[in-house]
Amino acid sequence: MSDRKAPRKKLLKALAGEKANGIPVWLMRQAGRYLPEYRKVRAEAGSFLDLCYTPDFAEEVTLQPIRRFGFDAAILFSDILVVPDALGQKVAFKEGEGPVLEPVTDLAALAKLSSPDVVRGKLAPVYETVTRLSGSLPSETTLIGFAGAPWTVATYMVGGRGSPDQAAAKAWAYRAPDEFQMLIDLLVEATVEHLSAQVEAGAEVLQVFDTWAGSLPELSFERFALLPMKAIRKKLKERFPDVPVIAFPRGAGGMAERYFRETGVTGLSLDTGVSPAWARDNLQKAGCLQGNLDPLLLVAGGAEMRRQALHILETLGQGPFIFNLGHGIVPQTPPEHVAELVRLVQEWRS
Ligand code: CP3
Repeated sequence: MSDRKAPRKKLLKALAGEKANGIPVWLMRQAGRYLPEYRKVRAEAGSFLDLCYTPDFAEEVTLQPIRRFGFDAAILFSDILVVPDALGQKVAFKEGEGPVLEPVTDLAALAKLSSPDVVRGKLAPVYETVTRLSGSLPSETTLIGFAGAPWTVATYMVGGRGSPDQAAAKAWAYRAPDEFQMLIDLLVEATVEHLSAQVEAGAEVLQVFDTWAGSLPELSFERFALLPMKAIRKKLKERFPDVPVIAFPRGAGGMAERYFRETGVTGLSLDTGVSPAWARDNLQKAGCLQGNLDPLLLVAGGAEMRRQALHILETLGQGPFIFNLGHGIVPQTPPEHVAELVRLVQEWRS
């Protein structure tokens, strides 16, 4: 391989399985309400979806945490629910309530959704943001594109809102699995189009968020979390053989090892509940790991945050590894704690 082709960015090196000099770091939800500069742009934009669909605003809030903290990666500012929005299911973000959608709970409602090929046109402003970012990011910063996994997106589409137990989606998936599979298949296709368009616009790595994977029992996990991710990974590999894909099957627990191996993803993002030593011994040989500091340790800061961050680094830091949280940053996080955490990771040597 020529020098020119060898990945030079720290995050790409880790995903290629190479030992980088130091551990790359970025944090899920690194752009968001914990930053005063985000709240300012958010207020200017009006609605959350206007923020996502206006490239000037979306580019700016993506760059904010990079300027402040010097993360190794920027994640496109958008949301997993732009896909159902593009498919014609009206999505609104209500203050203090989170996302609200008109529930899709049967075949008649499913039939009213658009076909996956509308995504590229409907989400053109999102891809425009990606194009701009690939020109405006520092040369050492990796640009991550993302989407929600079919199961997690389906839980919002069927429930019409977030729920602690995903009961509405489960009701359909258990009552009529072959019907529910049609929604999952539509989302597999739409997700592949959405992620492909991000790569074509300049995304260098893709992350797929399966936030609610852990609520599924084994046989449903296999059908609605593992197999859809495997299908997405396969189609992306055919189109973009060199683009790494990270999956975040939150709460997968004892299914994580099979999931990592059978989906063929490049990297696995670990939630807070996964033991770093178990992950090192059972998962790291299959590829790059990412994670998994508790976001609430980042709220607390101080000695306990440092102790637990070092525990993760010391256990998983022989690589390939990317430091991250076990779930997204929460709004009450003091930005100074983020600065301290990034410094700690950057100064750590294996
Ligand atoms: O910085 C980044 O990580 C990039 C942007 C990003 C957002 N959402 C912005 C956002 C990403 C990667 C997501 C993913 C996402 N969105 C997930 C999967 C990851 C996870 O956190 O589990 C899920 C389940 C969603 C759906 C979603 N979006 C919910 C449930 C909510 C409401 C809850 C909340 O935090 O308010 C959102 C809104 C949302 N998406 C916000 C942000 C910054 C907050 C909205 C605001 O600013 O008012």
